Amino acid sequence: MGFDIPEPYVWDESFKVFYELLDEEHKGLFKGIFDVAKAPSDAGALDHLKKVVEKHFSDEEGMMTAANYPDIGPHKQAHVEFVAKLKGLTTPVSNDTIHFAKDWLVNHIKGTDFKYKGKL
Ligand SMILES: [Fe+2]
Ligand SMILES: [Fe+2]
Repeated sequence: MGFDIPEPYVWDESFKVFYELLDEEHKGLFKGIFDVAKAPSDAGALDHLKKVVEKHFSDEEGMMTAANYPDIGPHKQAHVEFVAKLKGLTTPVSNDTIHFAKDWLVNHIKGTDFKYKGKL
């Protein structure tokens, strides 16, 4: 997978999954990472990112469960791994980690979330 990372790091319509809640939350995840990138030493920004990520994964998994979405297993696993990584982070967040998070979100939405389009 290798989708382009937007610069500046802002959600755009190419990331649309066509579920309003999830699109709004995805915008918030871009913003959350953008804010950490802007202020890598800001513990509040990092904490906020952790919160919006966990809330989004929980909502997305809830919708997949409700729809009996067949590929929920590996999708959930990808979420678990990203949360584990995120939880271990402390400030200041390194450039490598910020790049990893930016790349992970872009590729997760376009490579994994996109598979549920039209199925939830
Ligand atoms: Fe996801
Ligand atoms: Fe998502």
